[in-house]
Parts: sequence; C-alpha cells; structure tokens
Amino acid sequence: MSFQQAAARAGANIALVKYWGKRDQRLNLPAAGSISITLAGLETRTTVTPDPVLGADEFLLDGVEQPPGRVGAVLDLIRERAGETAACRVESRNNFPTGAGLASSASGFAALAVAASRAFGLELSDSELSGLARRGSGSAARSIFGGFVEMDAGTLDSGADAVAHRLLPAEDWPLEVVVAITDSGSKAVGSRDGMNHTMRTSPYYPAWVETVADDLDAARSAIASRDFEMLAQTAEHSALKMHASMLAARPGLVYWNPATLACLHAVRALRSAGTGVFFTIDAGPQVKAVCLPGESERVAALLGEQPGVHDVLVTGLGAGAAQVPAR
Ligand code: PMV
Repeated sequence: MSFQQAAARAGANIALVKYWGKRDQRLNLPAAGSISITLAGLETRTTVTPDPVLGADEFLLDGVEQPPGRVGAVLDLIRERAGETAACRVESRNNFPTGAGLASSASGFAALAVAASRAFGLELSDSELSGLARRGSGSAARSIFGGFVEMDAGTLDSGADAVAHRLLPAEDWPLEVVVAITDSGSKAVGSRDGMNHTMRTSPYYPAWVETVADDLDAARSAIASRDFEMLAQTAEHSALKMHASMLAARPGLVYWNPATLACLHAVRALRSAGTGVFFTIDAGPQVKAVCLPGESERVAALLGEQPGVHDVLVTGLGAGAAQVPAR
C-alpha cells in the first residue's frame, strides 16, 4: 500500500471557442475541440486524504458535505490505475462563487486529478492528467495547463486522444479578464444537462458542431499572431452561436438576465470606441470581458456601473494545475 495526503491547486478557465456537446457520454468525450484561457485569480485548492478506515469517499466543498458523485468516479479511475482501494476524504475550496457559470468544475476536477494521483503515488504526464480531469468535467481537461489551451475532440473510441495541450504560455500574451457577476446563485440548468438537452432538441446543434473547426483555426492563428481583433470576433461569435443553439432547444435555455445583456452592449460600445476588449458568456448569466494588457481597470469600472451587476472580479492569465504542500 502506498498512499499519503496530497494537495493541488488549479485555476478556472474560460473558453474562447466553446465546448458544448459530447460524442460519448460515458467517457465524457467532446463532440468538438475548444480553446480557453486559464485564469490566475479564480482557483480551487483540493486536499485528498486516503484513509482505509473510511467506508466510503467523503467530499467537502467549501466546508459543506456533498455527495461524492463524479468526484468518486474520478477517484475510482485513479485507484484502479494505482491498484489501491482506500476510500478518500476530499476537501475542496474555491476562492470564487461555485456553480454560477464561473467554471468551478473545471478548476475543481483539474485540482482533484493532480492531488488524487499524487496521493496514490502516481507520476502522470500532463496529458494523462488532462484525460482524467476530463472524466469529471469536459472543461477541466483544459485547466491542467496554463495560459492559452486547446482541447482536442480526438477520434479514438477509447478517448485517449481527447486531451488538452498548451498553445501559448500566459506570459507571452498577458491578457486581462474582468468577470461581471450578475447573479451569485447557482445556475438553474447545469452544463451537462444543458448540453445534452441542446443535442437532443435544438435544430441548430448540427450547425454548431459543424462550424467549430473554423473557429478553432481562426482562434489558433489569432493567438499565434497576437491578433486581438480576430480573437475578439471569433470568441464573441463562438459564444453567441453556442447560446443560439441553446435558445433554439425545446424548451429553450435562456441563461442570460437583463444585466448580462447590458454588459454585452457595454463591452461592444467600448470596443467600438477603441478599447481592446471582447465578451464571452458560459452556461450562466455572468459576463467575462477579456481585455488587452492595461485595459481591465477601465472595463471593470464600466461593467461595475451596469444595472444589476453585483460585483466585478479582475484577474489575469495564470499557470496550470500543480501540487502544493498539504496543510
Ligand atoms: O465542463 P462542463 O461540462 O462544465 O462544460 C463547460 C461548458 C461551457 O463552460 C459552457 C463551455 C466551455 O467550453 O467551457
């Protein structure tokens, strides 16, 4: 038996080319690729303590006991690989609101993959960690890496090639991110249910999947050449197209509130007036504004003034998931 307590941290990420829909439910394989940025200031810290005396896994999120669910499923994969059976106590803390479209599942499962694999003595590559994190949540595969990250849909039935890789380190293009919180409660429909509902019922879903490859090409080349305007147009198009596919589901999924729309217009007005900024919106009502270095203060001030905005967070791009000393 070889296990010990281990801890890890991981940053949330925000997709610029969105992931919405799966090609395999059991292995959680995405129907198309995606591109994201990993954030510095929004992070999850997770401690995994294997304990053979425990009858079953225990999971605490921000101090509140939760059903182990997918956390237990990811632990099972790691235990199987390590040839171990001990149940674990998992304690996870987010420094940002959980479940409100701020991708807490991404940082959470990335931190879990790193902490749990170390707890069971496994030395895995980033690509293997990305595959494990994906089993918890599709977007988590990207939070293993820092900076600009691409997730591949892969073609293998095993899912072995459905992993992320880094496109560019954060320091090479230190964009800034402003998150406008327009609702701090949990979202009504989680992303897993929302994307499955869209796949089943939206006539726009096939068009969505067919057009992601073009957006990936455009975003990849915009990132390589630091072409902010091309990245802005591609990211806004991807976000609005994803929401269009959800709106056309039956019944339609409407994640936005009036403040979401106010922020979206405010960002576009700023960009027309020459500020380097664009918006993106996930499966929730928050607006994320991505800005050129030095622009976040002005963007945060404007978004903070929009009616219905409760709070504004400002952060930069950050590093990938990493083990940290257990406390
Ligand atoms: O990783 P999941 O299952 O929570 O899905 C994430 C879906 C979006 O956040 C809406 C888009 C994305 O690519 O992160």
